[in-house]
Amino acid sequence: MIDDGPSSIVRLESMNMLPTTTLTEENPLLAGLRLERIPAPHVLVIFGASGDLTRRKLMPALYRLATQNLLPAGFTVVGLARRPWDTQKFRALLEESVKEQTGDLSPALWRGFAEGIHYLSGQYDDPDTYRRLAALLARLDAERGTGGNRLYYLATPPTLFPVIVQRLGHAGLTESPGWTRIVIEKPFGHDVSSARELNSLVQQVFSERQIYRIDHYLGKETVQNILVFRFANAIFEPIWNRHYVDHVQITVAEQVGIEHRAGYYDQTGALRDMVQNHLLQLLTLTAMEPPVAFEADDVRDKKLDVLRAIRRYDIQEVERYVVRGQYGPGWIMGEPVPGYRQEPNVPPDSITETYVALKMFVDNWRWQGVPFYLRTGKRLPKRVSEIAVQFRRVPHLLFLPEESGNIRPNVLALRIQPDEGISLRFEVKMPGPAVQVRSVTMDFLYGQAFGVRTPDAYERLLLDAMLGDQTLFTRADEVDQAWQVMEPILEAWEHLPPPVFPNYEAGTWGPAEADALLAADGRRWRRL
Ligand code: NDP
Ligand code: BG6
Repeated sequence: MIDDGPSSIVRLESMNMLPTTTLTEENPLLAGLRLERIPAPHVLVIFGASGDLTRRKLMPALYRLATQNLLPAGFTVVGLARRPWDTQKFRALLEESVKEQTGDLSPALWRGFAEGIHYLSGQYDDPDTYRRLAALLARLDAERGTGGNRLYYLATPPTLFPVIVQRLGHAGLTESPGWTRIVIEKPFGHDVSSARELNSLVQQVFSERQIYRIDHYLGKETVQNILVFRFANAIFEPIWNRHYVDHVQITVAEQVGIEHRAGYYDQTGALRDMVQNHLLQLLTLTAMEPPVAFEADDVRDKKLDVLRAIRRYDIQEVERYVVRGQYGPGWIMGEPVPGYRQEPNVPPDSITETYVALKMFVDNWRWQGVPFYLRTGKRLPKRVSEIAVQFRRVPHLLFLPEESGNIRPNVLALRIQPDEGISLRFEVKMPGPAVQVRSVTMDFLYGQAFGVRTPDAYERLLLDAMLGDQTLFTRADEVDQAWQVMEPILEAWEHLPPPVFPNYEAGTWGPAEADALLAADGRRWRRL
């Protein structure tokens, strides 16, 4: 059985409705039980399991799912990589990293969880690796009751994605008595043509229903909340358009540099690493029309419409509306830090951008003429991501300038991280006999309101892939369109004279040209 849609078992006893029961999703009894779903037993096969992503993100996320009883009985992991480790060593290394990442490992729970973890050493391009994998999976199906269900996770450098997909196909590992799905990490391609090539290759082996392309921003609680906020409240949607919105600012600022990733980052840069995926996803969720239903393809259709409507620039427009930067040496939190060109393994004359600011337009009825300003960079003063919707000024001012001072427009800020929440800025009268106007904010903070830990994006995304829910994964046509938006910029940069880098100091808010971009429109970046 290769095709597959949502699949899960549901534990009803936790709702005091029925004794523990296994039901399929077609059962109408299950309507509205989304929160209670538990995936069907399966084997998760991680390619590149000796790497950083597995250690820092995937295994801690799986362990946390286990602590919340969200994994099925018999859940099994097979880690596959070249390193000549064995299962015992793999389990021991993972125990260390899960302990380090979660800070609260329960030895008893870990023991049970670790029993389901296995390691297979092999070359990614060797057919024998896949023969041994098939034999191991058959054995695990028999021993652990995983029913032929498989979730393959590509956590290797992207150059290996094609060979792994092809070998899985040749070995017949895409067909089994249960379901098979594949999760593909970012980056998905390097430009339009490489993304198309990869899409076509993966689609020769897997159907689109089996493919889960990850953009981990979509798994963040606050990013999912954009849709709930917009479409579960009646008061915002009527003003969410060109008649009321002056402009939108989307910021994803990072304090970290490139860490140990020079090899990847110097070939990639901020436009491909952050804008093509994470920032464009934030933009689409902010700008999209209401979908017919909260179903994967309804949501993705509306996001696709936004991507299609983003104005494509010519070379002059790229020069005018897109700013790139690269950090030089500076200070972060009172400590000196090297410039990008001084980072280990970065060429001393690299012209890779570590900062991008750009102005974009969504050419449709809702957003015509409303600029979307996006910025992202490494080595900025702090880690902060937000979407700020700035509304138009009042059409006529009743108050004298000496009373009202500088009346500021309303701003609705959706804070993605940290201090997740929402704030609304508005003007009020200051107490006293005179009419004096001042800005205040009304704040909602997740931490205060719910007092619970915000789950990591990978917890949500792994669980959704196990459940067969593609809503928070990007579809082939979305990835393609996102690259089409980037292509004119990448092409223009190839033809324009090389930038004079570095052009911002580490620990500052980016190059002066980014401020000039907004100043030219009589606006400025929010202070965060
Ligand atoms: P790593 O560089 O740690 O690589 C993962 C594993 O792949 C390595 O342990 C190694 O295993 C194998 N590998 C690495 N290079 C080669 C090579 N040249 N040839 C053959 N095998 C190789 O990657 P990450 O874990 O950091 O990332 C994995 C994927 O996840 C990438 O696509 C990355 O872009 C994506 N990603 C990672 C994030 C992170 O925080 N790390 C965040 C977001 C996305 P072995 O030698 O044992 O075979
Ligand atoms: C990754 C990028 O996709 O996202 C990294 O490759 C970046 O360069 C990271 O640091 C940011 O993610 P987060 O969740 O820390 O905002």
